[in-house]
Amino acid sequence: MIIVKTAEELDAMRASGRLAADVLASVARSVRPGVTTHELDELAERLIRASGAKSAFLGYRGYPGHICVSVNEEVVHGIPGPRVIQLGDIVSIDVGVEYHGFVGDTATTVMVGVADPDVMRLVATGQQALIAAIEKARAGQRLSDVSHAIEQTAVTAGFAVVRDFVGHGVGRRLHEDPQIPNFGPPGHGPKLRPGMTLAIEPMLNQGGSEVEVLGDGWTVVTRDRKPSVHFEHSIAVRDGAAVVLTCVE
Ligand code: MF3
Ligand code: CO
Ligand code: CO
Repeated sequence: MIIVKTAEELDAMRASGRLAADVLASVARSVRPGVTTHELDELAERLIRASGAKSAFLGYRGYPGHICVSVNEEVVHGIPGPRVIQLGDIVSIDVGVEYHGFVGDTATTVMVGVADPDVMRLVATGQQALIAAIEKARAGQRLSDVSHAIEQTAVTAGFAVVRDFVGHGVGRRLHEDPQIPNFGPPGHGPKLRPGMTLAIEPMLNQGGSEVEVLGDGWTVVTRDRKPSVHFEHSIAVRDGAAVVLTCVE
């Protein structure tokens, strides 16, 4: 069942979304050669705690980090640790916070002195896929119109979408109905209604779409070990254009 939020709930979700976006921006600015992914996690922990919020990820099905940090061939759910960021890396950061009972969930991929034009194009296409999907997230559209926009943007640029992980509804819980695949034909699924809140999260691979989970039980990597990007916003459906909840103001 897809939960429709009231105006008051949407106000609370703007607050949690803004906080998630603020934390993400701070962590993204701190990504540089020499920093470890654990140091990025510590920064996020401090910022989330200082705001009176908590990580929506820590302890979720036993996840051990405050954020997810996924480097190069890592797609999502990278566990922060001793890995040192190098020049030429792409680093996906995913932040989820719970604040006054509501979750904000947002991710971005940062380039660290990337010189490879095809990797730059992968990053730009991931960003475009998220924007194209948000443009489709209007009342009256079907859910799969959002999915289709992501796949279309990726495939047109010559990249593959990850099929094994999906976007989702977001609200009092990190993962609510519906699941939002990053592919599919247009015109299917439930009709979008004002007050639905969705976490839309394209994952695009430079090579094939296949992924696998490492022995730590969390880190998702591309099977061909080619780079992958991840972008995510939590949005609210309205009449007309959606509102991006996870934006810095
Ligand atoms: N942030 C992921 C998402 O966007 C979920 C992370 S699962 C966790 O849905 F266990 F790592 F928290
Ligand atoms: Co996320
Ligand atoms: Co999410």
